[in-house]
Amino acid sequence: MRIIKVRAPGGPEHLAVADAPVPKPGHGEVLIKVAACGLNHADLYQREGKYPPPPGASPILGMEVSGTIAELGDGCDPRWKVGDRVCALLAGGGYAELCTAPAGQCLPIPSNIDLIDAAALPEAVFTVWANLFEPPRLSAGETLLVQGGSSGVGSTAIQIAVAFGARVAATAGSIEKVQFCLNLGCERAFNYHDYWFPAVRDWSQPHGIDAILDMVAGEYFPKHLQLLAVGGRLIHIATQRGVAVELDLRTVMAKRLLITGSTLRPRSVAEKTALRDSIEQQVWPLFAAGKIRPIVYSVFPMGEAAEAHQLMESSRHIGKILLRMD
Ligand SMILES: NC(=O)c1ccc[n+]([C@@H]2O[C@H](COP(=O)([O-])OP(=O)(O)OC[C@H]3O[C@@H](n4cnc5c(N)ncnc54)[C@H](OP(=O)(O)O)[C@@H]3O)[C@@H](O)[C@H]2O)c1
Repeated sequence: MRIIKVRAPGGPEHLAVADAPVPKPGHGEVLIKVAACGLNHADLYQREGKYPPPPGASPILGMEVSGTIAELGDGCDPRWKVGDRVCALLAGGGYAELCTAPAGQCLPIPSNIDLIDAAALPEAVFTVWANLFEPPRLSAGETLLVQGGSSGVGSTAIQIAVAFGARVAATAGSIEKVQFCLNLGCERAFNYHDYWFPAVRDWSQPHGIDAILDMVAGEYFPKHLQLLAVGGRLIHIATQRGVAVELDLRTVMAKRLLITGSTLRPRSVAEKTALRDSIEQQVWPLFAAGKIRPIVYSVFPMGEAAEAHQLMESSRHIGKILLRMD
């Protein structure tokens, strides 16, 4: 089969199409004929040699795919059949014509969603669900601030939170992206290149913000503590402006704040399967009803993986970038 290989750690120009043996589905796994693979920031770090895959994972890039089931491993969940349309969360291996996935990390593609577009869903939906809804950290009527609202994860968070009845504001890096967030259902959206903090504070007063989904950290951290309401929740999923932050514990105690965060990739198959089950029950009906949708900015053919990585590095995109594997 053809894969996209990292010839040596470094820039996007180190990506190239290469041959590799077809992987064999292990116990409880399926083999997927990949239609498309979603790009994630983790792929860029892995390409640079800064983010090795977890133990036991494929060394090939790619953490989410859509496609059809080509083979079932021993002991595979009997719900799956060869030919089923699925999208799957992976620990690695998605930049390939075929990949294996634990059956518990696969979801059926709703009939109203295109096979290629479904590759935009797993990583963003699992991340949003694992950080905002399970455990429950956002309820109907509460306020949510999404930093990076036009990102794959951010646009998914806005859509799901709005669908569950939250009042949402977001930040983004251009007027066009701000408008995109408003179109998704945000009450307010702010350009983070301007001084976003007072505008967000004005929007949220007098109550404050109940939950913040943050991918920035660094100097945003003390501002987030100021913005949060009593009992507010600050949830970190990335640290683009730095991991070292200044914390005044008096604010945490006075407002009884919860400061947390998580990563998805190193979680066990059992944890990801439990997330899959609750996503299928609670989020999948929203796709079927057309209340939320995959947001795909561009789809690159496999031979243009370098261009796809360059686009993600430029941050010009809105929503997801995909690689087509045909
Ligand atoms: N913890 C986890 O389990 C997990 C899982 C998946 C992803 N992530 C992380 O979540 C982030 C989003 O992932 P993605 O795939 O959706 O990536 P993406 O589409 O490339 O998004 C990155 C986002 O960060 C925004 N951003 C950059 N600097 C900012 C600032 N100073 N203030 C506000 N927003 C800022 C960008 O906004 P502009 O484009 O407008 O500049 C862009 O929307 C990435 O950092 C990724 O590593 C974490």
